[in-house]
Parts: sequence; structure tokens; C-alpha cells
Amino acid sequence: MLDDVRLHAHLIGKPGSRRELNTPVLVLDRDALGRNVQKMAALAKRSGVALRPHAKSHKSLAIARLQLDAGAIGLCCAKLGEAEVLASGGVESILITSPVVSAPAIERLIALNSRIGDLMVSVDNPANAVTLAAAVRDRPLKVIIDVDPGIRRTGVGSVEAAVTLLQAIHSTDKLVFKGVQMYCGIQQHIKDYQERYAAIEERTAYLRSIIAALAEHGGASAIITGSGTGTHHIDAQLGLLTEWQVGSYVFMDRQYAECDLAGDKQQAFEYSLFIDARVVSANTRGIATIDAGYKAMATDGGPPVVLSGAPQGSNYIFMGDEHGLIVDPAQQHAWSIGDIVRLAVPHCDPTVNLYDAYHVVSGETLHDIWPVSARGRSR
Ligand SMILES: Cc1ncc(COP(=O)(O)O)c(C=O)c1O
Repeated sequence: MLDDVRLHAHLIGKPGSRRELNTPVLVLDRDALGRNVQKMAALAKRSGVALRPHAKSHKSLAIARLQLDAGAIGLCCAKLGEAEVLASGGVESILITSPVVSAPAIERLIALNSRIGDLMVSVDNPANAVTLAAAVRDRPLKVIIDVDPGIRRTGVGSVEAAVTLLQAIHSTDKLVFKGVQMYCGIQQHIKDYQERYAAIEERTAYLRSIIAALAEHGGASAIITGSGTGTHHIDAQLGLLTEWQVGSYVFMDRQYAECDLAGDKQQAFEYSLFIDARVVSANTRGIATIDAGYKAMATDGGPPVVLSGAPQGSNYIFMGDEHGLIVDPAQQHAWSIGDIVRLAVPHCDPTVNLYDAYHVVSGETLHDIWPVSARGRSR
């Protein structure tokens, strides 16, 4: 049994029980989550694009099911381990967006390909394609060519490299070429809308040239997948992608809240993911120490946003592994120990991976406890 369930199951359905949770705790507002899921689904539908949300953000079967119920055609996973978890929960259409290269992982990939109806994996290297083909047993494996948008993470780095990879795929009947993927990771977080638009427009022209070259060499891209929370609004207008791999929109985080996602200076999606923390020491006026430090949230996105339980404009300062300081800019506020402070997470994906469970609330009441089903499944 999850520790979270042991500690908190008795609070489910009890009015006001959110405040009784042991802290620090990962809290998910089911109503805000539901609105975010519906909003993105409606936007994709209006734009004539299929939605294949990225499960790397939530690692949750329950949230995957919400997305499928709202019309998603399947899910993306960053790692094979995430895909195995979703498949065990009945998800039948999955794209693994990172290359699978080690021998034991390829064995698992091929086994998964026999188990679910529609598995695809991204490739960026001809030798990897040959190795995958050699491992295929019964059913051919569907592959997507990953295109590097210029960030040097994964993906082929040129038109020529894409064509060479296509030829490796076509040299065997064990692989089926399905299309291309390009995720513009760095561009997602360009804060200014026009600047982000220009960057994505230029990258989209590059992707078009790759698609054209592949088509000339006999590789028609039935699937053109990419996009993210930061660029979906722009991709809708550019109209090249057939699928969106958006992830963070379900939760939002500080990094995305600082971006003008739809060019209207409004926050396009609501915060639905929070860390509730408690004041554990308050011996200096204007400063409180809370029980959420480096171990309670990913820190690559800077400090969290202080949402409530502190005067407007209060800041969070990391104070080590277990603690954070909340600082009232007016240096006046007097906290009491036990006071609750609510934070919006700086970067959602790696924060979720620190917790076993979501505490799903509606208003101030604990509604359910959902496991972070694929927590730690990064292999
Ligand atoms: C390949 C890929 N696709 C999609 C996403 C989801 O993007 P976002 O969280 O920006 O919506 C990510 C996130 O890192 C990713 O790496």
C-alpha cells in the first residue's frame, strides 16, 4: 500500500481535509486539471490536429485515461518503462519519443510491440534501425524519424541524414516508416510570443524540407508529430503537424506561466498542480521556514511561485534539502507554526517524479489519491 494511502485514505471525502494532509504533499486540483484537458482537446479539434499528449509530464494512468476520454488518439512516452506502465493499464496506442538502443531495452520493446495494437518508436540513427529490425519477431515495428530542431539532444541533424536513415529503414521489411517527429524543446520557453512564433516558423520550414526529401525517396510522412505547451498555439497556425505531443498543459508550472502562450498576455492554462507545505519555524518577523526544500520539487526551473498562505508578492528562497524560506517583502507578516503555504511548482515533469501519489482535491476536500503510476520508470 502506498504510504500516501495509509496516511490519508481516511480523509477522502471529508470537507476541508486538504488542510489535514501531511506535508509537503503533491496536490492536484481535479477541476482545473479537467478544464485544461478539455481546453487542449477542443483546441486540437478546432485546428484539425490529432492529440497524442506526452505522458512524461504526469506519468499517470488516471490522467492518461482523462486525456483519451477527451479525444486523444494515444499517448507519447519518453521512455520504454513509462510505455510499459501505460500498456499494462490498457493504453493501446503509444509513441516512444526517445531512441531505444540497449539490447535488454530492445528485447522489451519488441515484447511490448507484440502486446499492444499500435506501438511506434522514434529513431535517429541507421545502426539503431538495423539493430531494431534484427530484433523484430512477429509483428513489424513502426518507426518515426526524429529530427533535431538544432538543440543537439536527439534527432537527425540534416536533410541528408534523414534520407540515409530512411534508406536504412527501407532496407528491411521488419520496420514500417510512419513519419517524422520534431520537438522544439528550447523554443518552447521563449517568453515573447512573436519571438517564439518566428523561431518556430523557421524550424517548421526546415521540417518541411525534410518531409519533402523523404517523400522524394519514397517515404511519405503519414504522421508529422511535435509541438509542446509552448508552441501548440503557433503550430495550429502553421498547420504542418498532424499530431501534438503537448505535455505540461495539464498542470502548468512557473516556467510556462511566464510565457505568453497564446499571444494575448493571458495565462492560457490554469495551475492544477501544487505543493502544499507547512510553516515549521517562524521566529523572525517577515520570514517563515516551510517544510519543502530541494527534495520537494525539481529546482532546474528556479523557485516556486508562492500562491497562498503568505502576503502578496512573497518570495520563496531555497534553504536546503528539506526547507524553504518564505519572505514577506514588507518584512511584516507574522506566521504561526503549522500555517499552510501553497506553491505552484517551478517545473512540473521532474517534480511529479519525486512523489508516489497525487492528492486529488476538489476545492478544499481530498477527493482521491492517484499513484504516479510510472514514477521512476526512466529506463
Ligand atoms: C519529445 C517531447 N515531446 C513533447 C514534450 C511535451 O512538451 P511540453 O511539456 O512542452 O508540453 C516533451 C517535453 O519535454 C518532449 O521532450
